[in-house]
Amino acid sequence: MTTDSAQRCFEPALLGRLSLRNRLIKAATFEGKSPNGTVTPELIRLHERLGEGGIALTTLAYCAAEADGRINEHMLYMHEGIRPQLEQLIARVHGTGAKVSGQLGHCGNFTKNREFHGKRPLGPSRTINALGLTYGLPIAGALTIAQIRDRVNVMARAAGFMKSVGFDAIEIHFGHGYGISQFISPLTNRRKDEYGGTLSNRMRFGLQVLEAVRKEVGDDVALLAKISMTDGVRGGTTVDDAVEIAAMLEAGGIDAIVCSGGTSSMNPMLLFRGDSLLPGLLEQEKSAIMRFGMRLVGERMFRKYPYEENYFMEQAARIRARVQCGVCYIGGVCTTESIAAVMAEGFDFIQLGRGLLFDPDMPRRAAAEADYVNRCSHCNRCATLIDAPGGIYCVERPNNFLPS
Ligand SMILES: Cc1cc2nc3c(=O)[nH]c(=O)nc-3n(C[C@H](O)[C@H](O)[C@H](O)COP(=O)(O)O)c2cc1C
Repeated sequence: MTTDSAQRCFEPALLGRLSLRNRLIKAATFEGKSPNGTVTPELIRLHERLGEGGIALTTLAYCAAEADGRINEHMLYMHEGIRPQLEQLIARVHGTGAKVSGQLGHCGNFTKNREFHGKRPLGPSRTINALGLTYGLPIAGALTIAQIRDRVNVMARAAGFMKSVGFDAIEIHFGHGYGISQFISPLTNRRKDEYGGTLSNRMRFGLQVLEAVRKEVGDDVALLAKISMTDGVRGGTTVDDAVEIAAMLEAGGIDAIVCSGGTSSMNPMLLFRGDSLLPGLLEQEKSAIMRFGMRLVGERMFRKYPYEENYFMEQAARIRARVQCGVCYIGGVCTTESIAAVMAEGFDFIQLGRGLLFDPDMPRRAAAEADYVNRCSHCNRCATLIDAPGGIYCVERPNNFLPS
């Protein structure tokens, strides 16, 4: 299996109509290098460096559809004010031979944005916004039907802007407890209208977003959807649901489905595995009240899942078996052997997160070395630095992305 299967990964491939030099995609890992919503030289350099390392497509994480779609005020939102900087980022990555995707998202009712403009965050149903308790945003309201239509339009407009700036692909965030997945999960969607109840109803908002985005950008921009295969919480979505969700996305014209899991709000360790995020997050949290709350829910929220290579393989294989559209594997790929195993299962693409933060040259090296092993320890410290000044870096290799 190993060498031949791995070889397929390093040959050119098509994502929709987009030509890629191989099948390796940098996963969205919110960089925390956009203070007050600006694109910094460090953010540009990070993506350029990933391009130099041989990745085919890098993903600019968290491109919020609107200012109030951000989890905090230090995230980018898609507007004219950052056009020149985004164009520069894309040109620099293109200069390396790689392409650029942007992860289009909306936080819905999960936000601690100090610059929130609206009256309150809005999601499918009225709820407590635990993240915003100490930020003056404790309660989230339910979107009216008219507001849902507006939000679909906001997502489509943002996608149109992304196309005009030069993004080659857009990854719509359908997972991890953010805006669209709040509709999909029965735990956060208690609506009684056509947007709640059955899985088809709960998918209605996301599918309307997909339809509107496709209409806006046409077929030349590749569209991916990152989904959570399960919420990982009792009463939440299951892999059986995810298989149907994948079929609905395929019917909706998606180019590739990225098979993740878990939610940032309820069960974050399911998507990471490895060392708990809790100690690092406690170190970063400035509010004593929030620290107290985090300790209180600590054990329940930050569950123990030991790291293993290709940890989402079994679940993702069910999605692979169900749809004909592109399927992108994500989760714990750190060796050429793991790449070969993913390819042997018939996946079209692989997304890499932490491995690339540890070794941005992983694509080139894995292509050249059949026994390549990325030594990322999955300490997950990088993920606890998203709100830290200067943003994320690998604590074992802090110089990886310093400006050249
Ligand atoms: C520092 C960091 C930030 C992340 N930010 C995002 C994000 O903005 N959006 C997202 O969908 N996933 C995010 N993730 C999750 C990754 O995309 C990916 O699902 C996870 O790291 C598993 O892949 P890996 O084993 O290759 O690291 C983040 C992960 C890390 C380590």
